Amino acid sequence: MDEEPLSDISRRKEEHIRICLENNVVYDRMSNGLEKVQIRPSSFEELSVNDINLETKFLNKIINFPILISGITGGSKKGKEINEIIGKICQEFSIGMGVGSQRAAIENPELVSTYQVRHIASDIPLLANLGIAQLIDEYNVNDAENAITMIKADGLALHVNIQQEFLQSEGNKDFSNLKKSISQLIKELKYPLIIKGVGSGISKKDAEYLMSLDIYAVDVAGAGGTNWAKIETYRNPDPSIKLMSSEFLNWGVSTAESILNVKSVENKRNIKVIASGGIWTGIEAVKALLLGADYVSLALPVLKAINEGGEKTLRTYLLSYVTEMKCVMALLGARNLKELREINPIIR
Ligand SMILES: Cc1cc2nc3c(=O)[nH]c(=O)nc-3n(C[C@H](O)[C@H](O)[C@H](O)COP(=O)(O)O)c2cc1C
Repeated sequence: MDEEPLSDISRRKEEHIRICLENNVVYDRMSNGLEKVQIRPSSFEELSVNDINLETKFLNKIINFPILISGITGGSKKGKEINEIIGKICQEFSIGMGVGSQRAAIENPELVSTYQVRHIASDIPLLANLGIAQLIDEYNVNDAENAITMIKADGLALHVNIQQEFLQSEGNKDFSNLKKSISQLIKELKYPLIIKGVGSGISKKDAEYLMSLDIYAVDVAGAGGTNWAKIETYRNPDPSIKLMSSEFLNWGVSTAESILNVKSVENKRNIKVIASGGIWTGIEAVKALLLGADYVSLALPVLKAINEGGEKTLRTYLLSYVTEMKCVMALLGARNLKELREINPIIR
């Protein structure tokens, strides 16, 4: 595989990684909104950090923390290295993991191994990944199940990234069959389905639609973290795309508001809520859980940590993240996730 020229899809995935590492790809006119969530530490809770237990279940597997590493990559040698590091560390911390879009492996089965991590991460909940654009255009339930089985995943994350596709020269510009394709997939897929954004958030109207579906979870991927509109304007050589307004490139529903939108809708099926979009510190994770999320998920800092110092730096970053979460919990007097949910945050 080393000498193989990269396919267009693999090249695009590598370009995304390079752009994320070399440029400012974060929202510059919007925050994740979590600074508006106020929590008050107490000094008299008489808890030890060792009393804090953040254990929960995701896709029927017990995990030590309500944390998932979002789908980032695969489809190239570099992607394989990154996935293997993430897999190893997720197994060590006992948290969930997603791989990046598996389109490259569906088109070219030689690339399947670049997404496989089960030999390193045998116990963690693992998510396969495909995009809505391919599902509308060319893929069917067999491709979705192929994505899951090729990596022995526990479910599929389907990313809905319309603004991103609009800004890619090669992107899909026609989403007229979007809901029909989703309904068909839900009807036929034998595995749990998670619908995720990629960083522009969920409006109240979209929350109502999503919570009416028979799916396992919604990942809000709110605005305020990685900004895919910006990433695609770095990539696209078209001068008219480069002139897109800063307002359009900083458009979306913040992560905090997205969580609240999803939580405001009746949830008869007990659809799980994954909060992501700039949840890059332990205190932000606790705030997202206080707003009602069941799990948090993160991508960009994971990629940056691996780039900076591989497995060792990622381990240190996550250790700091979970230690911060535990300290905040102890200062709030919450021993576990159930006790945390009983605390009402103040939202400014
Ligand atoms: C380099 C990179 C590649 C990504 N590739 C995918 C992908 O293939 N599929 C997907 O669903 N999301 C992808 N994402 C989006 C993340 O899964 C996540 O939803 C988003 O970045 C928001 O999280 P963050 O703010 O913590 O980065 C990617 C993110 C990054 C940084």
